[in-house]
Amino acid sequence: MNTASTTPVIAVIVVAAGSGQRLGYGMPKAKVPLGGESILTHALRGVVAAGIAQQICVAIPQGDAELQALCDAFARDLKAGHRRNAAAGHSVQLPVVTVVDGGASRADSVRAAMAALLPETQSVLVHDAARALTPESVFHRVADALAAGAAAVIPVIPVVDTVKTVEPTTGDGVAIAPELVTGTAPRESLRAVQTPQGFALATLIRAHDALAGFNAVQAAAVTDDAMLVELLGVPVHAVRGASQSLKITTPLDLILAEGLLEGPLGGRWVEG
Ligand code: C5P
Repeated sequence: MNTASTTPVIAVIVVAAGSGQRLGYGMPKAKVPLGGESILTHALRGVVAAGIAQQICVAIPQGDAELQALCDAFARDLKAGHRRNAAAGHSVQLPVVTVVDGGASRADSVRAAMAALLPETQSVLVHDAARALTPESVFHRVADALAAGAAAVIPVIPVVDTVKTVEPTTGDGVAIAPELVTGTAPRESLRAVQTPQGFALATLIRAHDALAGFNAVQAAAVTDDAMLVELLGVPVHAVRGASQSLKITTPLDLILAEGLLEGPLGGRWVEG
């Protein structure tokens, strides 16, 4: 639990409205089973375990009754656990759980969730449900940076592969290979970006307002919220992420996540 006295009122937006096509389960990714429970359940437990949120606002695929019921049951269990803790003399903050219909793009889902935040919200963490095993420590590092005055903060990890830019091979005749290398990015200054990404709420609202002026190509190129904030010229701070925060996207990721659950992370999921 983050105990800094300057800790702002924090909402965590969990975006879970993606289709999950790349996972190949034929269902929204949030529902896909991981260690016997849904990816979304794991993601929500992680947010609760971090203990930083006054509100958890979940964006689910529009009209998805199953995920709505899952979130309702999660909120009920949370309240029951809170009552038990209070009876035992442990007073832990109980976050409000809000569910909204997501949109066609991730940014649309974030915007829909922002519209449902409690009026007292000062800071927002935007978290991919697909990063279901994010350790509490990552939430704490992001929240601590916000408490220290950052308007935008993202968790990152070093890149282990050499990263190159390419373009499609053009010209007549048979190409030797489909793409040509155009450059090599300096690896020591590259970082892979994860979630939760933390923002002062006013900054995130401004960033998404700017998106309204983008054309379709520019809007499609927006893959995270920090990108929008960078375009405003607001400094984006980077804290250490974690390899366990992998975004479950492909069947291989799901195998890795199953393996992680059998390790030290597993303990988080067995408590009632
Ligand atoms: O598709 P992508 O990997 O960018 O998705 C990242 C996260 O954004 C996932 O947790 C997904 O559920 C969420 N998302 C969303 N609404 C969309 C598309 C993605 O909430 N329309």
